[in-house]
Amino acid sequence: MTGQRKFYLKTFGCQMNVYDSERMGEALAADGFTATDDIGQADLVVLNTCHIREKAVEKVYSDLGRINQVKRQRAGEGRGTVVAITGCVAQAEGAEIVARAPQVDLVVGPQSYHRLPDLVRRARKGEQVVDTEFPEEDKFEHLPERAPRPTAGPAAAFLTVQEGCDKFCTFCVVPYTRGMEISRPVTQIEAEARRLVERGVRELTLLGQNVNAYHGDGPDGRPHSLARLLGRLAEIPGLERLRYMTSHPRDMGSDLIAAHRDNSKLMPYLHLPFQAGSDRILAAMNRKHTAADYLRLVEQIRQTRPDIALSTDIIVGFPGETDAEFEATLDVVRAVGFAQAYSFKYSPRPGTPAASLDAPVSTEIAASRLTRLQTLLGEQQASFNAECVGKVFPVLFERAGRHEGQLVGRSPYLQPVHATAESSLLGQILPVAISSASPFSLAGTVVAA
Ligand code: SAH
Ligand code: SF4
Ligand code: F3S
Repeated sequence: MTGQRKFYLKTFGCQMNVYDSERMGEALAADGFTATDDIGQADLVVLNTCHIREKAVEKVYSDLGRINQVKRQRAGEGRGTVVAITGCVAQAEGAEIVARAPQVDLVVGPQSYHRLPDLVRRARKGEQVVDTEFPEEDKFEHLPERAPRPTAGPAAAFLTVQEGCDKFCTFCVVPYTRGMEISRPVTQIEAEARRLVERGVRELTLLGQNVNAYHGDGPDGRPHSLARLLGRLAEIPGLERLRYMTSHPRDMGSDLIAAHRDNSKLMPYLHLPFQAGSDRILAAMNRKHTAADYLRLVEQIRQTRPDIALSTDIIVGFPGETDAEFEATLDVVRAVGFAQAYSFKYSPRPGTPAASLDAPVSTEIAASRLTRLQTLLGEQQASFNAECVGKVFPVLFERAGRHEGQLVGRSPYLQPVHATAESSLLGQILPVAISSASPFSLAGTVVAA
């Protein structure tokens, strides 16, 4: 029967989960499964989950309700369905999930998903499996190698180089769900990058919860910094663009800043969360930097690479945040000027130090602060995009557009760029003269190189 088993996989959360889902899908494919978008056809349903905010977790449980119906219906037709929870909710709430949602057969954390095919076999025999240990072995050494694809795949890909976090911001679950900071060895990453380039990848985004704290072993046995890793990857023929995320301001080393000037493949775009503008709140968050530190760092980065654009993450309504402290967040946003940003209402997370702090900010106040912040950020993004009109950007074409004869690519600043272009140009980087801008995207014309 192998070869006919199907899996349905849904991804929640951050880019690292997207990457993990890809690896899990490949591991399942190597074990005889094929992917399906039709959950009713799936012998295995995998939810790769996120624990970062309460809403993310609620989505998982509401999906599980629907999946239960599908599972019952299939059972009525004599077909079994294994329901698996992977990712950060699996890690954080393993046993609880099984108690709350008995339709779940299998729970596996982000550090042991290389065992997924075996665990699925056990679950199919009727065992309820929970695997949330942080294993001794390196999952990357046990996953199937990144095989070539039969057809050309996407031109841009993620590659996890660092995982886990030792920073322990008081609001954040990541140090508990992903474990302590681990950097993959340089040669392992290079080998994977080459494989991806063979598949048609032209742009790599190196991922890590704290990616700029990267310090993986180099071929000489000595730790390499992220800047050095980026330098080596820049030498891979066919790999045209490099990005990395997410960085912590404290780990923005001078060699990494210099790489933004010296490494021509590194894109002039940096995601650098600052979370809050008040020093009192930053200290309560255990961010280990002040607002002034952040502004100084931005200044230094801009001096080194004047055309760099920044994006960030911000939280409003952290416990005890006053109006004046929220204003300080707006001040930082005004002082920096972001090309793009993610902003969130604080969500208390079980087991984190901030969850037991007094003086919660009411949902109404948090909501109105978020609206004000997002209005300002929206204006900044729209004006950044508007300023791009008249410039010529190298655009990596990634997919077909909605209109016939149109392709969509990405600028160096990750803006979607729409242009009239033949589909043979997919996967290529071409100069595009930007003729118009909307709040979220650009449009232009391919010009002769
Ligand atoms: N590793 C990254 C991001 C982790 S999560 C980093 O260190 O920046 C992505 C973003 O979610 C965070 O930057 C933060 O802004 C937000 N976030 C994390 N925990 C949160 C919480 N409890 N409530 C609201 N937002 C949160
Ligand atoms: Fe979470 Fe802070 Fe670590 Fe980022 S640096 S993953 S916000 S604990
Ligand atoms: Fe969510 Fe885990 Fe990523 S909690 S944001 S999926 S690291």
